Amino acid sequence: MEQIIKKLYDTKDISDSSLAELLKSEDIIDLLHEYALKRRKEYYNNDVYIRGLIEFSNYCKNNCYYCGIRAENCSADRYRLTEEDILSCADDGYNLGFRTFVLQSGEDLSYSDDDICHIVYKIKSAYPECAVTLSIGEKTKKSYQAYFDAGADRYLLRHETADNAHYRKLHPQSMSLENRKSCLWNLKEIGYQVGSGFMVGSPYQTDKNLIDDLRFLQELQPDMIGIGPFLPHTDTPFAKYSKGSLVKCLNLIAILRLMFPYALIPATTALGTINPKGREMGLKAGANVVMPNLSPVKVRKLYELYDNKICTGEETAECLLCLRNRISSVGFNMVTDRGDVKPHSGI
Ligand code: SAM
Ligand code: FES
Repeated sequence: MEQIIKKLYDTKDISDSSLAELLKSEDIIDLLHEYALKRRKEYYNNDVYIRGLIEFSNYCKNNCYYCGIRAENCSADRYRLTEEDILSCADDGYNLGFRTFVLQSGEDLSYSDDDICHIVYKIKSAYPECAVTLSIGEKTKKSYQAYFDAGADRYLLRHETADNAHYRKLHPQSMSLENRKSCLWNLKEIGYQVGSGFMVGSPYQTDKNLIDDLRFLQELQPDMIGIGPFLPHTDTPFAKYSKGSLVKCLNLIAILRLMFPYALIPATTALGTINPKGREMGLKAGANVVMPNLSPVKVRKLYELYDNKICTGEETAECLLCLRNRISSVGFNMVTDRGDVKPHSGI
């Protein structure tokens, strides 16, 4: 096994059969993480970048079977923030030291392209040195271009699964993998820093699916790669499915770091939800970003993608000191600049 990991470290590539072996074994953690950590330090030292996450609406027109804010979940308590609310979150975030804002929502058609452009424009005008990341789902290329022209720098859109048959088991007929992928290519063509990714342990996922996910990412060469364990939500069709494995997720973070040494890889909220120390473990496995919540406290609980999502007390952006301590407790250093991706061949 050491040979496989060493070869991956040396060449950044790995055969399907070696990947299958790595994904099967749970006892390689120490070695795999050691190499991933070494690679991460070569590119990013001990730095961990922070992003202020503003979850501005939990309305969504889609019905992904795994997602707690899907349109057909009538139990969801819906909210949307006004432009003023969003700008005030960004102001608070700026004063706390954030230099990247991530605006995320369900696919909420009540915000027009002009509304989104205006919000982006206002944030960029107030804080030109900050990066604005959008994560608002599948849109036309024209819309993506308009947001970019208004000043958006980055876009997060997980592909969710690169396998068509698996995609069909997670989404209704109205959605397609083809469209999701073409959105990602459009975003790249426009010039965004692009993020993609997938859930680990989503229902029906096989190791072969995960290998296809990694191959798709090799094609796309995204700047940011977000993965986290699937966690069930009570009011979804997948309520009764098991959650993803923490160990597998950590191993995949390490594999991603070795395959994409330059990438910005978050230790996600889902990782922090599956285990109280999950994000610290993610950082030790090779992740280099954390995304604390900047949304107004009263709506935080409502952006409930899965059960028991962490969002209280010290988990929140206000407690940056706690976050700094958590990050340094595992040997890293919280950095409050834009944290752009290192130059790489996919740019
Ligand atoms: N609407 C945007 C989109 O489609 O990209 C952004 C919001 S969407 C809720 C953000 C991500 O949450 C999804 O890409 C998905 O991978 C993740 N997610 C949704 N439900 C989840 C669950 N039950 N467990 C873990 N992650 C989940
Ligand atoms: Fe739209 Fe989850 S179904 S954000």
